[in-house]
Amino acid sequence: MIELRGLRKVFGDTVALEEIDLSVPAGEIHGIVGRSGAGKSTLIRCLTGLDSPTSGTVSIDGADLTDRSGSGMREARRSIGMVFQHVNLLDSRTALHNVAHPLQIAGVAKAERLAKARELLEIVGLGDRADNYPAQLSGGQKQRVGIARALAAEPKVLLCDEPTSALDASTTDQILGLIRSLRDRLGITVLIITHEMSVIREICDSVTLLADGQVARTGTLAEVISEPGSTLAKDLVPLPPIGLDDTGSAVGADGADGAGTSGGKTRLVEVALAGASLPQVLTCAQSVGVSADAILAGAVETIEGRQVGRIRFTVASAAKSKELITALEADGIYAEEAA
Ligand SMILES: Nc1ncnc2c1ncn2[C@@H]1O[C@H](COP(=O)(O)OP(=O)(O)OP(=O)(O)O)[C@@H](O)[C@H]1O
Ligand SMILES: [Mg+2]
Repeated sequence: MIELRGLRKVFGDTVALEEIDLSVPAGEIHGIVGRSGAGKSTLIRCLTGLDSPTSGTVSIDGADLTDRSGSGMREARRSIGMVFQHVNLLDSRTALHNVAHPLQIAGVAKAERLAKARELLEIVGLGDRADNYPAQLSGGQKQRVGIARALAAEPKVLLCDEPTSALDASTTDQILGLIRSLRDRLGITVLIITHEMSVIREICDSVTLLADGQVARTGTLAEVISEPGSTLAKDLVPLPPIGLDDTGSAVGADGADGAGTSGGKTRLVEVALAGASLPQVLTCAQSVGVSADAILAGAVETIEGRQVGRIRFTVASAAKSKELITALEADGIYAEEAA
């Protein structure tokens, strides 16, 4: 559905995007994450046709957005709806007329566009707010009106740039639920740019990490989260913070593995639950005398039927840490000493 091939965008001597290849299949919700300056906004601007790529192609449902002759671009643009962090509704128009506005511009007859706008407001759960002005709506309600407006032209693709960054947690959940239900009901393909890992975890089927204008990682959520040692996986399934006692040792470390604490400072060993199940990890740890009591923190989620996440053990010494890591690795389980 969305195809980027060799997409490159250069501003003067800044390379904002370098040879990006990305495919998002129809009906999928794909998230794009990356640090500030990674190229996220540039990517979305190239996708909307607001910016033209220096080289490479962008196609949406087979229509080439980079086709300068115009026909492909017009067709591709029609198939895109946009949702922004700040919705930018017209203050002097009601919710209904805001949603109908793009249809008015497209020359759709009045009765038809108002009927369509009413239907869209129903879909986003604001059927009873049609006659309210933006000033009478909450942030979440305004964002819903924005989504209804983006759907007016019946786009095949919804591009969302930080759609929930300005919303509180429960409103965020509602908007994410709405985006997911739109995908389920309308079969729309969704691309979401976000800095919120929870957004990715909650609704994305697949995710791309951009770094310095390049694709650092891309894959289904399950693939990316279960990648041992990857920073994206750690960001997506964070471990709870660790309490430190007065000596700077991790709380709960004392005698935790039964090996005594005489061998120097305690160490933390982080284990990736990727191919391995939790019982497998515990059995292996036990074989070198590290019991479940030595688990300091853990984050486990089930994604697409697989347990993914990480477990952090505390062990009494560097030697024990090495022994544990070696035993786990011999079982094909990824482990590393954590800072
Ligand atoms: N119009 C422009 N002219 C010159 N340089 C630009 C322009 N737009 C973006 N850049 C540069 O391209 C790079 C990528 O910028 P971009 O806005 O895509 O980052 P971003 O990932 O959206 O960051 P943020 O999370 O802060 O919004 C940056 O180095 C930025 O300075
Ligand atoms: Mg940006």
